[in-house]
This record gives sequence, C-alpha cells and structure tokens, in this order.
Amino acid sequence: MSSATPLLEVENLEVNFAIKKGLMQRTVGVVRAVNGVSFKIPRGTSFGLVGESGCGKTTVARAVLQLVEASAGTIRFDGQDIAKMDAPALKKFRSRVQAVFQDPFSSLNPRMSTGRIISEPLRVHRLKPESEIKAEVTRLLDICGLPARFADLYPHEMSGGQRQRVGIARALAMNPELIVCDEAVSALDVSIQAQIINLLEDLQKELGLTYLFIGHDLSVVRHICDQVGVMYLGRMAEAAPSDPLFAKPRHPYTQALIDAVPNPDPDYEQGREIVPLEGEVPSPANPPSGCFFHPRCPLVTDRCRSEVPPLDPVEPGHLAACWETGITVPSA
Ligand SMILES: Nc1ncnc2c1ncn2[C@@H]1O[C@H](COP(=O)(O)OP(=O)(O)OP(=O)(O)O)[C@@H](O)[C@H]1O
Ligand SMILES: [Mg+2]
Repeated sequence: MSSATPLLEVENLEVNFAIKKGLMQRTVGVVRAVNGVSFKIPRGTSFGLVGESGCGKTTVARAVLQLVEASAGTIRFDGQDIAKMDAPALKKFRSRVQAVFQDPFSSLNPRMSTGRIISEPLRVHRLKPESEIKAEVTRLLDICGLPARFADLYPHEMSGGQRQRVGIARALAMNPELIVCDEAVSALDVSIQAQIINLLEDLQKELGLTYLFIGHDLSVVRHICDQVGVMYLGRMAEAAPSDPLFAKPRHPYTQALIDAVPNPDPDYEQGREIVPLEGEVPSPANPPSGCFFHPRCPLVTDRCRSEVPPLDPVEPGHLAACWETGITVPSA
C-alpha cells in the first residue's frame, strides 16, 4: 500500500461482551465495552488512547490484536480489512503487529531464559536458521540496551525495567511495523519509565515503527504521541494532535482529566482552582442516556441528557463530541 494509506484504520469499532449468570450461564445483559470508535494511525507515528479505567482502551487494543472479536466495525491494517484476511495474510499480519503489555513479569514465561523468550518467535515462525539465532538474540538485546549476558538470565533475575526491555526485544524479533503498547511503562518507577520511553522513541526513529500507545499518565502520552484519542465509556470523546489537545482541550472530560494532573510549578498550583472530576465512571452495561459524560459534566444541558453528540471537527483535525463546546467548523 502507498505511504498515504494509514497503517492502522479503525472505523466504528464495537466490542460487546455478554454478561452471563448462573449455572446455565444465561445471558442476562451486555457490556458495550467499545461503542463506535474510529481513528487512523499514519505510518511511523504514535496514537495515544487515554481515559479512566474501564473506558475500553485495552479492549480496542485486543480487537486490533485479534485477541477479541469485533462485534461491528472495521479494522484495516495497511489498507486490508483484517476480518477478511485469508490464512497466509493473517499469519503475516500476526508478525507485523506486536504487543508490549504492562506487566512483563506475567507476560514473560518464568521458566524460560531471556534468550529462549526472545528466540521463540524466531523459531516458531522460522525467521532465522538455527545457526543465526544466537547472534540475532544478541543483536535484539543490544538494540534494547541490554548486554549479551542477559540471554542466560531468567525473568525473576531482572529488574522491572530490564524485563520490559526483554518484552520489547521479543516484540522486535518479529520485525513488526505496528507495536501496541498497553500501559507498557505504567508499572515502572518514574526514572525507569523515562528510560523505556526514550528507548521506544529511539526505536521508532530507527525502525520507522508505528505505535498504538495506551496509558493513563497524560504527561507520558503527551510526550510520546503525535495524536491522542480520549475515550469515555467506550466512546471517543475527543481526538486531536497532541499539542492542541493538551493546550486547548474542547471536551469537558478531557479538561477534567488534564485538571486532575498536578502541575510541577508550585506558583501555578497555588492560585489554581481545581475542579475535581466527581463521581465514578458508570457501568458500560448500563450507560446513561444522551452524552455518556452528562451526569458528571459541569456544562450539562437538557440536550446532553437526551441526544448523543457526534464526534465532529471543532478545528481542522480536532474532533470533539460535545453539544456545548463542539462548535462545528465547515470542513475544508
Ligand atoms: N472479557 C470480558 N468480559 C466481560 N467484560 C469485559 C471483558 N473485558 C473487558 N470487559 C469490560 O469492558 C470494559 C472495558 O474494559 P477495558 O479493559 O477495555 O478498559 P480499560 O480502559 O483498558 O481499563 P484500564 O485502564 O483499567 O486498563 C470494562 O467495563 C470491563 O469490565
Ligand atoms: Mg486496560
């Protein structure tokens, strides 16, 4: 596909989970975990997904990785609908898209040495002859900032940051184009986080990688991502390039998330009136009517209680789903 085709294109994605109860496992309801989400990630760029716990970020990632079935909508990778791929295309897709998760301790097999963890995909997919595997493992460790002797260590012998480097090396073994990072640095200490973020950025530049980056730390997402989508209860509340999104958020929910982050400047903090985000995220099994955010929104009006606001442009490339702030600009 041409470089103008986004590497990943998600359109009106819906993922529903049945709620089952009792011995007979009768379906008693449905959780609409992802409720019509769309975004595009151009090749070589990073797209961030943020939002409170339970808003559907991981479910979007799992649908992209084909670990969960989409109930509706389309996911196109390099222009190809992944639901329509034949077996060879699917096999190729599974190597072109890799994932790095939050807790490398649970995603790395504790009984395998680092060398085996990293070389397993090379062997399974026959990417390298046996004679070249050792050198390839050394190369992958090296580009992830670990010395060759780490090949003999087991996950429990490494620190959290080192384990995450191994998780990244294992993902890179497949020579992927898209890496889905689901809270990949969230469990790490701040100084270690910064090192892993630098590594991800260096790898992106050197290898031309594309990232779907999920995180709850807005400053991390702002730093690493070109575009950001803010999810609330399975829907996209706002989506825009990072700078305008953080400098001039247009959805009250985005504003509330930004307000919740303390500013490092004490002068700023002193005079600041913090409007806390009140209440909890409602259950996606029983969402509110109209705009899902309306019960917690400071700008709520009658219309918000009854009508779902569309995700429309407020500036070119800046989308927001809000009746009050989402003043639609004529499309160019
Ligand atoms: N397999 C499943 N079966 C039933 N419900 C599920 C399943 N997976 C997720 N959910 C529900 O879907 C909703 C979205 O969950 P998801 O894990 O995608 O949220 P998240 O944004 O990643 O949250 P967090 O920030 O805590 O990781 C939640 O209400 C969750 O309970
Ligand atoms: Mg999650």
